[in-house]
Amino acid sequence: MIKVGTTVSALSQFLKERFPVDKLNFHYMVEKKEVPIHRMSWGYYTGGLTMFFFMIQVITGLFLLFYYQPTVSDANVSVEFINRHVEGGALIRNMHAWSSSCMIFFAMVHLLTAFAMKSFVRPREITWIAGVILLFITFVFGFTGYLLPWNQIAVNATKVGLQSVEYVGQYLPGQLAEVPRILRETFQGESSVGQSTLGRFYALHVVILPIALVGLLGLHLLSVQLHGMSQGVDKPAKKAEKFISIFVFKDLTLWASVFMVLFVLALCVPFDSFLPFPLLAPFNALGSTPAGIKPEWYFYFVYYPLELLPFWVVLLGSIFGVAVLILTPWIFKGTSRRTLSFMATAAGAYLFVMTVFGEQIYEFFKH
Ligand code: HEM
Repeated sequence: MIKVGTTVSALSQFLKERFPVDKLNFHYMVEKKEVPIHRMSWGYYTGGLTMFFFMIQVITGLFLLFYYQPTVSDANVSVEFINRHVEGGALIRNMHAWSSSCMIFFAMVHLLTAFAMKSFVRPREITWIAGVILLFITFVFGFTGYLLPWNQIAVNATKVGLQSVEYVGQYLPGQLAEVPRILRETFQGESSVGQSTLGRFYALHVVILPIALVGLLGLHLLSVQLHGMSQGVDKPAKKAEKFISIFVFKDLTLWASVFMVLFVLALCVPFDSFLPFPLLAPFNALGSTPAGIKPEWYFYFVYYPLELLPFWVVLLGSIFGVAVLILTPWIFKGTSRRTLSFMATAAGAYLFVMTVFGEQIYEFFKH
């Protein structure tokens, strides 16, 4: 039998090591902090870049809120109005759209570099798990934001997405089989995707997810600052630079450069110009489902396997993948950085191939 006293003291010991209160001071967490210099040092900038794009999302999102109307009758018109009649509206909307993709891209790169650098080992397990949840929240941001312009593509793609959630129930035993249906009903709010769905997605996108992300990011950064940067490579680096002000200065320079690229991109290239369908065509319940509806590019790595393989194979693969991600600090604690780098490169290659060539792979196997 498990003794309650022993469990509580083991847990408190675990937390003490992850959050050492004696180090909770400015001198230790900031002034004394150093960043190792080695061939993987660039990996230390990826978390900051993800955070920078999140800040852009918050600022541009607040501007969009001035005009956006979360109702099925006005949502599409209000987005059209922002695009055509609000001064700087198209720029802000484009920045929000481009930066959302950048945030997701860098969150994935950040996960892969943190994995390759073995930054997840004791005492950084909580930093890692908080990171996995942050990535999940970032994906839900993308999913919920996609519906808000209330266009034909988005509404239909959301219907498909929510149906896929319900399918999961068929593969679960007993009472558990009800959970996906309840989840779908909770998010959908009515018998078909409609006003309640839009209201709920809007609440998630502009209130619930930002609060959850900011809270978790606080925990993530607190533990990063308490433990300092991880070693990153097998042989401890011979050189290091001060966090204040060398690393922070480089970080800010990078952010400023990235901002200029984002600004010019948003000014010159409307986000929807790469899409093979008119993003702004408003939703028409009597209209047909447009051919070739697809989710956003960052879901291709799971979308194309879903199109090609039996649902249960992808479901099992996803459950396995998420479990491995969460348990990474324990599963890979004895694995060499060489092997981890190889695995991260293989995962990166899979994501790249599925995202860029997913459609060709689909055509090849389906015809
Ligand atoms: C919204 C998403 C995220 C943001 C804004 C974010 C932000 C940051 C920042 C600013 C740092 C410190 C600088 C650096 O090492 O890059 C950091 C470190 C770290 N992050 Fe994240 N992160 C996010 C998601 C993730 C994910 C998905 C993972 C992995 C599952 C992760 C795991 C880590 C780890 C292990 C560290 C410590 C690195 C070290 O000590 O060398 N983070 N994160």
